Amino acid sequence: MSAQTSSLFEPIERASRDEIAALQLARMKTTLAHAYANVATYREKFDAAGVHPDELKSLADLARFPFTNKQDLRNNYPYGMLAVPMRDIVRIHASSGTTGKQTVVGYTKNDIDMWANLMARSLHAAGAGPDDIVQIAHAYGLFTGGFGVHYGAERLGCTVIPMGGGQTAKQVQLIRDFKPTMIVATPSYALNIADEFVRQGMDPAACSLRIGCFGAEPWGEGMRSEIQTRLGIDAMDLYGLSEVIGPGVACECIEAKDGPVIWEDHFYPEIIHPETGEVLPDGELGELVFTSLTKEALPVIRYRTRDLARLLPPTARSFRRMSKITGRSDDMLIIRGVNLFPGHIEELILKQPQLSGHYLLEVYREGPLDQMEVLVEVKPEFAHASTEMKQNAAKGLQHEIKGWLGVTTRVSILDPGHLPRPEGKARRVIDKRAV
Ligand code: DLL
Repeated sequence: MSAQTSSLFEPIERASRDEIAALQLARMKTTLAHAYANVATYREKFDAAGVHPDELKSLADLARFPFTNKQDLRNNYPYGMLAVPMRDIVRIHASSGTTGKQTVVGYTKNDIDMWANLMARSLHAAGAGPDDIVQIAHAYGLFTGGFGVHYGAERLGCTVIPMGGGQTAKQVQLIRDFKPTMIVATPSYALNIADEFVRQGMDPAACSLRIGCFGAEPWGEGMRSEIQTRLGIDAMDLYGLSEVIGPGVACECIEAKDGPVIWEDHFYPEIIHPETGEVLPDGELGELVFTSLTKEALPVIRYRTRDLARLLPPTARSFRRMSKITGRSDDMLIIRGVNLFPGHIEELILKQPQLSGHYLLEVYREGPLDQMEVLVEVKPEFAHASTEMKQNAAKGLQHEIKGWLGVTTRVSILDPGHLPRPEGKARRVIDKRAV
């Protein structure tokens, strides 16, 4: 067992806030200087804003530095934002993105090591240890999910089943035969696995799994309950994004289960007003922004994630937490002037006892008016329910949506298996208004 796992907890996880702040400030100074010296884009942006890394005297001074966003990485495709020579890069990942060029990210040997440590810390926080057998159901490849979790699980000393994404029947076969105690996947895929157990005539709640770590897409408390009940596990929230490192930026602790704990010794979080860019106080809802504190290959300074969340006070660890992601600012739908996120609808769907987490929102225009149709499958145990029951479920959901969001929607209740089954990140919205 490595030094990392022999104690399982790192001292910094329980350090005082003053110690954490001192470490953050020292690391932030180094990171700003590194970015300024080695990445032309940062140098140009800092110069244009009239700021220099030497002027950072306190953590609050970071607010004077300019933001970075996905477009900066795209403009520098593929390697223009790297702060080290190519010979020091040992790994490349890329995030697909639905529009535009891929975002390419690079890692030095030290970056990979730090990432493995943080993923090990994340899985440990989620309740795993060296005795666990972990089935990784994230894709291996350019996506950071598979390899990121893999290195962390090995570092923690777990037994890793590197299954990768997809092949749901085989996932279930492996769970039955290899008896993993933990699964790591997207939350929507966890439901696909539960459905596959049912399809094979088995009760998913009776399987060997005891914990799941889920992320890479937004999911609410309703989805958490559904996954927990159906698979008979604790469902923990794992957060991250490629530009910042991949999975392992933040993870929930099993003893509190109250939102992902941000590994603040490596990533400095801010919440900003998405339109004005103003830094908001902890507790307020806004866009998450991260500054990396230890990355070598691709330091990110005030990277705008587009993810909407709140910063919350520490509980199970000394680090601050983030609320579950409410949605991404780019996923916000405006239906007849009302702003809503797919996650809002998901929570209302899962309040209906007959309805499952398999849903899709179709938005279109009818004459001058926006229309939204919610397509949602019933849970497998209601597959053969009467038309009347389905109509009642539809009416119930319509009523809830109207009551909460003031929007009239169409609701179509489908039998299990009628919606596409994503193997990674679920696509929740088809917006036909744009075409
Ligand atoms: O999805 C990294 C990851 C892999 C995280 C496996 C967790 C597990 P990207 O493909 O770059 O990286 O996508 C990042 O996914 O900005 C969020 O919008 C969303 N996301 C990631 N984790 C969560 C989560 C990976 N726990 C984007 N809750 C982020 C909600 C999440 N959204």
